Amino acid sequence: MNLYQRPRRNRKSAAIRAMVRETVLTPGDLIYPLFIHDDGSDTEIASMPGCRRWSLDSLVREAGEAHALGIPAVILFPAIAGELKTPGAEECANPEGLVPRAIRALKAAHPTLVVITDVALDPYNSDGQDGLVQRGEDGALEILNDETVEVLCRQALCHAEAGADMVGPSDMMDGRVGAIRAALDGASFEGVSILSYTAKYASAYYGPFRGALDSAPKDGDKKTYQMDPANVREAVRELLLDEEEGADMVMVKPAGPYLDVIAALRDETTLPLAAYQVSGEYLMIKSASAAGWVEEKAVVMESLVGIKRAGADTILSYFAREAAQFMG
Ligand code: PBG
Repeated sequence: MNLYQRPRRNRKSAAIRAMVRETVLTPGDLIYPLFIHDDGSDTEIASMPGCRRWSLDSLVREAGEAHALGIPAVILFPAIAGELKTPGAEECANPEGLVPRAIRALKAAHPTLVVITDVALDPYNSDGQDGLVQRGEDGALEILNDETVEVLCRQALCHAEAGADMVGPSDMMDGRVGAIRAALDGASFEGVSILSYTAKYASAYYGPFRGALDSAPKDGDKKTYQMDPANVREAVRELLLDEEEGADMVMVKPAGPYLDVIAALRDETTLPLAAYQVSGEYLMIKSASAAGWVEEKAVVMESLVGIKRAGADTILSYFAREAAQFMG
């Protein structure tokens, strides 16, 4: 054929492919989510093979090893003992609680590691909802917005006091980013950043995570606060509000099934954009590769590069450590 244009010339060797590669993933792009519990030993998480609930000693070791591989940040998710869960979720702001102790241990051992916390009530709430629950006479659940925001502010302050670099409200209550910003600033924590879960969808992909923390809602679902998977304009609306309210970074969650949402927010904002490859995305890759049906390393890297290509600056992934090892 008499072709002037032969795109395959740019693919003819590994070296040329490296020269023209548009998206390069590095360990610096990753945030490592870690589960913790108040127990001296680590427990394998049945719903998330390869993940553990760490004791505080193991957390410090695991986070340190990940940091040494070039991962800049971790985000903490606590499994709270059943007897500490209450309708008012008071434990979420206990300065001697599990999360504040974990933050202090991490910052003492690894001062350059960025420590992020999840701000939401579900691990602490006996109802398993991200907010405070009121039950109507007909038994219907109502998740109270403004009352919840007050508790979230106390939780965020407690994390800031313990030394968190960044707090991540994942609750999807209205107005919480602005309220948390004001609470932090009012207590002279102007330097603590807010990573907002801006577009968090009511997703079935969170199932394995709720198994990891025993944090599934006791009753009902999260559809009155988490977003409808069918919507993307609504994500832009949430973004504009979070920007106005002072978010430092914004997030789309889940990641893989929502690449168009990542791309849409990338176009709309100058803020750094995070995406969360959630537990169900992790589990699908893990189980398919355990069965020998896909090649784990290749699929992990392809899933992450796809999320970055869609526009994410930083990716929360349970594969973070493994991926950083692959890159090394
Ligand atoms: C809770 C929270 C959830 C996740 C992160 N924070 C679960 C939920 O909203 O029900 C899910 C993460 C994952 O599935 O990996 N605020």
